Amino acid sequence: MSVDSDFDALFAAAGRVQPLAYAPYSHFKVGAAILADDGAIYAGCNVENAAYPVGACAEAGAISAMIAGGSQRIVAILVMGEGEALVTPCGACRQRIREFANPDTPVAIAGPSGIRQRFSLAELLPASFGPDNLRR
Ligand code: THU
Repeated sequence: MSVDSDFDALFAAAGRVQPLAYAPYSHFKVGAAILADDGAIYAGCNVENAAYPVGACAEAGAISAMIAGGSQRIVAILVMGEGEALVTPCGACRQRIREFANPDTPVAIAGPSGIRQRFSLAELLPASFGPDNLRR
């Protein structure tokens, strides 16, 4: 992929759910959108919890939506956050993305007004451990 129109669609999808995020503790709303290999787009937002560690990241929500929607491969993913700093996926979410993506899968990081930077998954999670590493 890497076609700009695909990222435009992911930007729009993440932008629709980011305002819906449940983030009463951090006040930091995040949206994520996945393009699956069948062309479907799935979105998720962060959902926090009074027991702080139980909160879920936007990427985890988007992955759950993807699996529940019947898709299984991530062709591209976009994460949209607030503020000036890049909202790159946390370590746990890099591993979650890894399960369904390839090392060269693009991960776009966006702010409110557009994509700020693109990474490959391998740049964010080098020498990663994935399903193939379990084969004996
Ligand atoms: N968060 C995400 O949902 N995705 C990210 O990539 C970074 C952080 C959420 C978790 C928490 O609800 C809030 O942002 C502050 O860390």
